[in-house]
Amino acid sequence: MKIAICPGSFDPVTLGHMDIIMRARKVFDKVVVAVLINPEKHTSFTVEERIDLLRRATSGLDNVEIDGFRGLLADYARMRGATAIVKGLRAVSDFEYEFQMALTNKKLNPDLETIFLTTDSEHMFLSSSIVKQIASFGGDISNFVPPCILRDIQERLCQEVGEK
Ligand code: PNS
Repeated sequence: MKIAICPGSFDPVTLGHMDIIMRARKVFDKVVVAVLINPEKHTSFTVEERIDLLRRATSGLDNVEIDGFRGLLADYARMRGATAIVKGLRAVSDFEYEFQMALTNKKLNPDLETIFLTTDSEHMFLSSSIVKQIASFGGDISNFVPPCILRDIQERLCQEVGEK
């Protein structure tokens, strides 16, 4: 069985992430969407919330699993028996960092390939930070996040702004 990992912070999941997950699941037998657990990094959503949002956004997709991971991605991929990491590439500005990560992961786990999918042109500008910025100013994010979790994301981000 060919298993791929789609790793990320997913703070929160966007339609850009969903596009990459949906395309990866057509190429691989199984896709593990792996949420980085890093207590030192500030995130707007807790890891439980991010996993829950992803589970709801991908419910009904039989070959997609949502999980959390700590530590090195290369180790996690080995533990899951994955042969590839799948990532979306938006613009040239993404490339340098992604290239560095791909080379590092290859050194740490030589059996692991990193595969880049070019982001759908509709999502080129989209990121979790952009979604958070728009929502924090009361803007409409309905074109940017999965409809089934739109309300929860909006409410949670409004709550965060209120707390500041
Ligand atoms: O959505 P993000 O924040 O761009 O995702 C980054 C992620 C989770 C893919 C990356 O930070 C990661 O793989 N972290 C795990 C630590 C690791 O393996 N580092 C070495 C590779 S450079």
